[in-house]
Amino acid sequence: MDASPPPTPHGFTVLGIAGSLRRASYNRALLRAAQELAPPGLRITTREIDDIPFFNADVEEAGVPTPVTALRAAVQEADAFLVVTPEYNHGVPGVLKNTVDWLSRPARGGVLDRKPAAIMGATPGLVGTARAQSQLRQAFLFTNTYAMMQPEVLVGRAREKFDAAGRLTDEPTRAFLVKFLQAFAAWIGLVTRPPAGVAGGPP
Ligand code: FNR
Repeated sequence: MDASPPPTPHGFTVLGIAGSLRRASYNRALLRAAQELAPPGLRITTREIDDIPFFNADVEEAGVPTPVTALRAAVQEADAFLVVTPEYNHGVPGVLKNTVDWLSRPARGGVLDRKPAAIMGATPGLVGTARAQSQLRQAFLFTNTYAMMQPEVLVGRAREKFDAAGRLTDEPTRAFLVKFLQAFAAWIGLVTRPPAGVAGGPP
């Protein structure tokens, strides 16, 4: 019997962002771990969001700020979007929600429209950012972003799972992350490459 893993789709690029500005962020560390553990053919690049200004429709009308244009282009060019969210007061941190708000414009045909996506999160607490992830999914309903449903990466007790240098050291979490990334690669394939002979694609 062949014990080798099923083939992974090849050649997908992913743009990843972490919703924390903190230098030693667990969520950025989790994103780095995803880069390290990505299967062959899934290439994750990252971008910081500390230069994204507060959303303001007047500013938008006067001219979209350069960092927003650059981030939009990075999301557009990637096959998929990976968001790693902390949880603040049972929700998505303001800096991340603000970034999603900029990316959500224009309301139809923006870079999040029909974009394959996945969500992860890490917290020193017990609930593993479940509530923040749930909120983000709600936003993705409006933006028509195809966020993978399962598996969910909910990293609780982060202090015990990352070392002082911010490396994910917890073996079960690393193994789970590998499975998640394989599922994500399959999800991107499913969403972006509908079977031959089927007209159209998802709305
Ligand atoms: C938190 N934290 C937190 N954690 C959690 O699991 N649920 C929560 O509702 C909150 N609420 C909350 C509010 C505010 C204002 C802060 C500053 C923090 C703790 C949070 O998970 C912790 O600070 C993480 O380390 C933040 O993520 P990064 O920066 O490590 O990626």
